[in-house]
Amino acid sequence: MDAILVADFIIKIQFRIRDICKELILTDDQLRMVMQKLDDEMNKGLSKATHDDAVVKCFPTYVQDLPDGSEKGNFLALDLGGTNFRVLLITLEGQSFDMKSKIYAIPQSLMLGTGTQLFDHIAQCLALFVKDLNLQDKVLPLGFTFSFPLDQQGLTRGYLVRWTKGFNCSGVIDEDVVALLEQAIERRSDVKIEVCAILNDTTGTLMSCAWKNRNCRIGLIVGTGTNACYVEKTKNVECAIPGNFAPHKSHMLINIEWGAFGERGVLDFILTEFDRAIDENSINPSKQLFEKMISGMYMGELTRLVLEKVVNAGLLFGGKCPSDLKKRGKFFTKYVSEIENDAKGKYTNCREVLAELGLRNVSDQDCENVRYVCSVVSRRAAHLASAGIATLLNKMGEDNVTVGIDGSVYRFHPYFHDLMTEKINQLQNHKFDLMLSEDGSGRGAALVAAVAAGHR
Ligand code: BGC
Repeated sequence: MDAILVADFIIKIQFRIRDICKELILTDDQLRMVMQKLDDEMNKGLSKATHDDAVVKCFPTYVQDLPDGSEKGNFLALDLGGTNFRVLLITLEGQSFDMKSKIYAIPQSLMLGTGTQLFDHIAQCLALFVKDLNLQDKVLPLGFTFSFPLDQQGLTRGYLVRWTKGFNCSGVIDEDVVALLEQAIERRSDVKIEVCAILNDTTGTLMSCAWKNRNCRIGLIVGTGTNACYVEKTKNVECAIPGNFAPHKSHMLINIEWGAFGERGVLDFILTEFDRAIDENSINPSKQLFEKMISGMYMGELTRLVLEKVVNAGLLFGGKCPSDLKKRGKFFTKYVSEIENDAKGKYTNCREVLAELGLRNVSDQDCENVRYVCSVVSRRAAHLASAGIATLLNKMGEDNVTVGIDGSVYRFHPYFHDLMTEKINQLQNHKFDLMLSEDGSGRGAALVAAVAAGHR
């Protein structure tokens, strides 16, 4: 083929790939519609009359104070909710802070086993950790970061509403997870702890960020799952249980649980065939739809589904689909970040990823098209998360709000931060900052425990 014909051929292929991807590209009008609907759903969650039936629950956290920097003491923290489980010892002293931590794997058999097995494992890891540090005879205050939807009834009581992110342990739904933890610790009777607070990772992120930055009013996670929390006026938190919070305090943190947004057809106008396939093959079909469009648990698989379609249409790899690209779960979310991390016109990471999938000698053009698919999927995630944050900024109506953010997708994707900054600016008019939050689940848990237990 001569050069003109080749260029023409490449453009035709790109055009057809763009056509397959077009429903994954959201216009600002569609994103504004998402904002409107999220706002409606949040209002249903906040209002007492509609809370029970609401999809986006907006759970009260009973956290009413932000840290002021005077928190001090030694705290234990447990962090369950992502791919790993961690136990931490945190020392707070003015603006200095020290942390020792240990990561323990949660094998799939535990994620899908019984609640008793899960909590026994947690208690065992905790016991090993405190014995290692020779702390088993001290009664240390503990903050438990439990990153699943909890119907909280106080700072130390929270009933699991549903499992998300691939967990499905029996016998935990509708139970108070603090009680389950305490029972597991009692069964061992070799360590002493005092659970001072149970919290969500978004709350931990907000608190941890607020400890450094007084303007932090929103906590966001874009990791294995996605969710946000924000500072709401206490008078708007109609569902909080009287007697379990201080009505004279002006604010309370709200755990939105926006991952559930989209259930009952609310986001059908933007769902694609790829989203429907992800949902159908998940362990929680028709649940957590917003989360399935944004978070790391699903981003790789979404990308794989689009790539598979592009290959099957004869537009990539000469129409030959490597067997691993046909298998569910084989295209990891980290590949998206790696591929997009290649410098423009270079495809080193892309070729490494494709080699892992069994493909060698791939042309630059194919690599460019693979990168395009990755960027469409990650941009949509960033734009949807931006629509969520823009909704909150409008709701709060304040300028100069800092958003503390954590999670593997936000942390490792090369453009997520920039994409979000740009889109949030386009969708609303308040000034804001996006700040990477350092270890919210650990330090945040200690701060909630400190504030709750009055260690100031
Ligand atoms: C959970 C939230 C959590 C988020 C981020 C979601 O699946 O429902 O509670 O905050 O993941 O970890």
